[in-house]
Amino acid sequence: MNKRKIVVTSALPYANGDIHIGHLVEYVQTDIWVRFQKLRGNECVYICADDTHGTPVMIRARKEGVTPERLIERSHALHLKDFGDFQVEFDNYYTTNSQENKELSERIYREAEKQGFISAKTTPQLYCEHCKMFLPDRFVKGTCPKCGADNQYGDSCDRCGSTYGAEELGHPVCTTCGGAPVVKDSEHLYFELEPQHDYLEKWIPGHTTSDVSNKLLEWFREPLRGWCISRDAPYFGFEIPGHKDKFFYVWVDAPIGYIASLWDWCKRHGEKLEDWWPNGGAGAGDAPELYHFIGKDIIRFHCLFWPGMLHAAGFKGPDKVFVHGFLTVNGEKMSKSKGTFVNARTYLDHLPPEALRYYYAAKLGGTVDDMDLNLADFVQRVNSDLVGKITNIASRGGQMLQKKLEGRLGALDDEGKALVARCREASSVIARYYEDRRFNLAVVEICKLADAANEYFDRMEPWKTVKTDAEKTRTSLTAALNAFRIIAIYLKPILPAYADKAMKLFGETEWKWDSILSAMENRSLGPYEYLASRIDAKQVEAMISAAAEKPAESGEVAHESRASKNRQHAAADAAVKAPLKPEIAFPDFDKLDLRIGVVESCETVPKSSKLLKIVLDAGPLGRRTIFSGIRGAYPEPEKLVGAEVVFAANLAPRKMSVGVSEGMILFAGEPGAGGGVLSPREKAGGGTPVT
Ligand code: MSP
Ligand code: ZN
Repeated sequence: MNKRKIVVTSALPYANGDIHIGHLVEYVQTDIWVRFQKLRGNECVYICADDTHGTPVMIRARKEGVTPERLIERSHALHLKDFGDFQVEFDNYYTTNSQENKELSERIYREAEKQGFISAKTTPQLYCEHCKMFLPDRFVKGTCPKCGADNQYGDSCDRCGSTYGAEELGHPVCTTCGGAPVVKDSEHLYFELEPQHDYLEKWIPGHTTSDVSNKLLEWFREPLRGWCISRDAPYFGFEIPGHKDKFFYVWVDAPIGYIASLWDWCKRHGEKLEDWWPNGGAGAGDAPELYHFIGKDIIRFHCLFWPGMLHAAGFKGPDKVFVHGFLTVNGEKMSKSKGTFVNARTYLDHLPPEALRYYYAAKLGGTVDDMDLNLADFVQRVNSDLVGKITNIASRGGQMLQKKLEGRLGALDDEGKALVARCREASSVIARYYEDRRFNLAVVEICKLADAANEYFDRMEPWKTVKTDAEKTRTSLTAALNAFRIIAIYLKPILPAYADKAMKLFGETEWKWDSILSAMENRSLGPYEYLASRIDAKQVEAMISAAAEKPAESGEVAHESRASKNRQHAAADAAVKAPLKPEIAFPDFDKLDLRIGVVESCETVPKSSKLLKIVLDAGPLGRRTIFSGIRGAYPEPEKLVGAEVVFAANLAPRKMSVGVSEGMILFAGEPGAGGGVLSPREKAGGGTPVT
């Protein structure tokens, strides 16, 4: 077998979001494929990085009062930890905010400029006077110019699916400050695609699957539109050479980050970048294969702009772009309020990573169709197949051999040899399925082998024979365990840690695909280590409720309540009883001006069983009197004196029979049932205890 050299990438996750189970469809999928290549003896380098630039990172850093550099450093560490715990093993996980990436971005831009592919145009754009910035599409909402639906982003409409320019929106609102933006002209740089019309039209069909390419080719009936690659300051990114205060749009330097990450890997491994990602036809003959794994939402960037950029600058393009669909949970889009927007960490708090890796593999067919995580099916499949069928062979066979037969394997008899041969024969079919990313079919084949091994085991009845014929029992257990060993080798790309434990059981130190050819006879087993255990629907339920309380922060501007973790739990428990109010958009939430005040006095109100009269020292805002219906939670109102509370400071004053209320104190949960006022400090007036 000729050793292939392969570079593989997954899309670079946004630095301002958590890794969630949707992302993992991609990273687990890529990781399985890379591990398969390595197991086959190929030289394969798995490259990724955090995608760090752009407005969302800038805004989030601003809100948190940290530098964007600090923010992306933190996400980098968190992302790597999540991936590591899911056994996703990159050869390099870099950042797009690197010197290498800056250099490469400038170089590619200059090359494109030299080819005459860059043009400048002045375009009208929405500008927020309050935020002092031009608004990216996702930072403005308004009514769709085509169908009139409200609350649509500046690039496309969720309801009618049409795409448009943000300045076409009706009644636009800045999602950061809630203000109304104005239209202002700005000069922008465009990467013209029309000069590469023919090149790309020819390139696309051979470099992705037909479902994807057919869709893309529809655009080629007309001249290709130029792609706007500049953004105005302030912007967290790389400045465009020769254009002060203009920055590369994040989608320019993001894919270039693949090359930059590979370059960094080369430097650290004494390799030359030209040998791994050639430019200018040099070494093109024996250039490594290059594959990108991406989700269906970013096809345009990877199958149109990216090959256009690479070609313009003389870099080798990808051999294939593998596109997958989106994750749905129980047949629906992941949803924060339903608790199905589960972040990687929340999953890991409740369930083993192997279970998800196994389930995803069992469902991934290498197509662009969406993939469903059906939670009941998930529990059922992991328990019946991975645990009940596959692991069972090793646990029954291994433990019996250890306990009753000194842990020594014997020799294979004819029947045992036939079972092992059957397992080996499946090798080329399973390898083909892995290679074609039809992991679902690979899992089906592997499960068939496990069925065969279990049938053999049950037919031999070792639990009976062990009482009468030790050597016969040893022979049958040897066959079952050898079959299990081959199955575990086949599963190694999907379950690397599991396979490592299985390998140790046989006292081996390295498994390659060809290790299936050796037989384990007349040797002692290592100690039996637990391989996988059943999962329980309760764990899944606990995960879903935890996720409903703390959904993953998606890559957009994330905004999290500062209430302490414990408080969130109690509040959520109480909130379960009251039905959730309809969802509101961020601009609605952002209209609230939340401030901190210190309770100066707090007393009951005559003739009211619910109200407390609270006077707050609101610092620069002066003194505020607020009537709050929370007496049930504070039987001893004076205990609130001195507490720091959060209150809505810009609520219109409200005239009540007992006086004017100048604001609203934030309170979560139900009075008398675990509720309490929100306090930036741990304990506020000892209301009903919050745990
Ligand atoms: N930063 C860009 C990619 C730049 S690549 C040069 C980006 N980041 S992302 O964090 O939003 O997504 C990373 C990858 O995860 C993308 O390929 C995306 O399609 C995939 N997924 C994100 N959510 C997903 C699901 N819910 N389901 C399946 N894949 C999803 O896009
Ligand atoms: Zn604004």
